[in-house]
Amino acid sequence: MEKLKDSIKIDDSIKKYWQEQAQQVAWYKKPETILSTNNDSWYDWYTDGELNSCYLALDYHVEQGRGEQTALIYDSPVTGQKQKFSYSELTSLVAKFAGVLRDQGVNKGDRVLIYMPMIPQAAIAMLACARLGAIHSVVFGGFAAHELAVRINDAEPTIIIGASCGIEIDKVIPYKPLIDEAIEIATHKPQHCIIYQREQAQATLIPSRDLNWQAQMDIAVEIPPVSVNSTDPLYILYTSGTTGKPKGVVRDNGGHAVAMLYSMKHVYGMHTGDVFWAASDVGWVVGHSYIIYGTLMAGCTTIMYEGKPIRTPDAGAFWRVCAEYKVNALFSAPTAFRAIGKEDPKGELLKNYDLSSLKRLYLAGERLDPATYYWLKDTTQLPVIDHWWQTETGWPIASTPLDDGHGNVVATKAGSAGFPIKGYDVQILDASGKQVPAGQQGSVAIKLPLPPGCLATVYRDPQRLISGYLSDFPGYYTSGDGGYIDEAGYLFIMGRIDDVINVAGHRLSTGEMEEVLSSHPAVAECAVVGIDDSLKGQVPLGLVVIKNGISASDEELISELKQSIRNDIGAIASLKNLVIIDRLPKTRSGKILRKTLRQMIDGEEIDIPSTIEDIQVITELSSRLVNINK
Ligand code: COA
Ligand code: AMP
Repeated sequence: MEKLKDSIKIDDSIKKYWQEQAQQVAWYKKPETILSTNNDSWYDWYTDGELNSCYLALDYHVEQGRGEQTALIYDSPVTGQKQKFSYSELTSLVAKFAGVLRDQGVNKGDRVLIYMPMIPQAAIAMLACARLGAIHSVVFGGFAAHELAVRINDAEPTIIIGASCGIEIDKVIPYKPLIDEAIEIATHKPQHCIIYQREQAQATLIPSRDLNWQAQMDIAVEIPPVSVNSTDPLYILYTSGTTGKPKGVVRDNGGHAVAMLYSMKHVYGMHTGDVFWAASDVGWVVGHSYIIYGTLMAGCTTIMYEGKPIRTPDAGAFWRVCAEYKVNALFSAPTAFRAIGKEDPKGELLKNYDLSSLKRLYLAGERLDPATYYWLKDTTQLPVIDHWWQTETGWPIASTPLDDGHGNVVATKAGSAGFPIKGYDVQILDASGKQVPAGQQGSVAIKLPLPPGCLATVYRDPQRLISGYLSDFPGYYTSGDGGYIDEAGYLFIMGRIDDVINVAGHRLSTGEMEEVLSSHPAVAECAVVGIDDSLKGQVPLGLVVIKNGISASDEELISELKQSIRNDIGAIASLKNLVIIDRLPKTRSGKILRKTLRQMIDGEEIDIPSTIEDIQVITELSSRLVNINK
């Protein structure tokens, strides 16, 4: 711990720079202390500042005379609904829902869990929490009851806010039974659930516990924003780590507000009145930062799109939305464009729309593969900007700048996420923590301190902040990604070096999937590794060793095991490949050789570790696995 503390040096120029950037924020009380270390050996940004994040996103714009401007557009091809909310209307709805929460006893510091699809009520719920200083924790709707229960136990919410259902392509997914099941499993019980009833599936409400959203709104009064400290948490967002237990990334209010305003201007080049569309989900960090907070704090118009890139109704859906609402910048995951490109390879559907307002495309969530980069660039003739970030940072670490500072265009490079953004000192380190030469791969680390807006701590587990991110290289934050910086300074992020995989831009833990598989009574041991997938980037592959004496057939077991992943983690895990094998390759100390497994699957030359337990197992497995992802 002491060693870690010693490694934290705060340069005055850093403080000065971020003090200037903080001028963009309409604080209730301007901070005088810009950056300091705290008892957890970590940083506090703008320690003595006071503000309210909901005020900055809504009321502030009404006060500035922008009340009539559209704040939020809801476009839902899955229901056929479209709705616009001005800044005044949204402020009033949020203030009222804050009244609903207050009536249920929610106060500053209380946790509120939100499990909702992409409907405006999700945004209203988040902003209402921020208005009261309550801490929201949004759980992505694709997660199953067990995952929800894990988050309920960790966040211990006073209230759960849900909707009766989500709507996917061609199917309605009732959410309320998942909430009920999760509460049943969880040891922590919320006092109440507030449920937004959708006509596609009405939920059964449990008397005395469940409340109807609309009925509560009808009797609530509007509540003004409360002042919170800069370091008070705004939200907790759970993300997959290397263990089965997701990490609760805590975001503060002050540093986050500065980072949101800074990035909207300097990374995305957005100004008040512009239309910014982050085609993601409020359950992910992209949704928090650029569907809700950043976009609204910057006084832009945001879009909540309840649909998919394809099949709602076709691969022209993104272009239709961009044309209809005169979107100025679009942000999505490479997977979405791979899906569009697969259905409309020549971009014929794009020609039906006037995209003259669209200036740039931003991609993140997974590596933008060169093929998709070129396809997108050729088809749209727009700048295609791959940029790299994580739930932990909350805003981009690297991107291609809007210009070189003298008005000249900076070229993007296929496969690269651009250059580190000012505030992030990105370095590539070898195993001993030494910087490697240009072009050589290593661990992508960020020299401390991280800029404002990055994780404030891991909820209820500050030790995990240290063990998970700060212990590998003293003085650095370890990103968990591997990559390199080329001679020209372009950063290439090549993939995770831990047990995290990115499926369709969704971050999932193979360790968590292994826990689910191994809890099946027939499973002796198992391993889950990520394999390449032409649509989703990566998908999990499960390798399972079955106990002796099990009478069920392999087919039955495979189907049960796949179902258990859907039930416990959710359909988004997309575990479609499961192979029953006799033995897993291991070291003599019992460690599963995941790298070797990946090499077998990719048909690469296998580095046979000297500590291997039994070489025969490699020979046997190689022939079975080599074509599995072809
Ligand atoms: N609620 C409930 N279930 C959900 C869900 C949600 N919010 N989101 C996804 N699911 C389910 C899907 O219905 C599907 O279930 P199924 O196996 O029963 O069909 C499963 O989870 C996998 O969904 P998805 O990953 O969306 O795959 P898909 O094959 O249905 O669609 C794409 C493929 C490429 C269209 C889709 O993955 C996509 O739009 N990707 C972009 C992702 C993205 O924007 N990420 C942003 C991160 S910045
Ligand atoms: P998440 O926390 O869900 O946003 O996932 C973060 C992880 O997604 C990163 O650690 C990377 O592995 C991956 N990622 C995000 N953006 C990019 C990118 N532009 N290029 C490569 N990988 C990315």
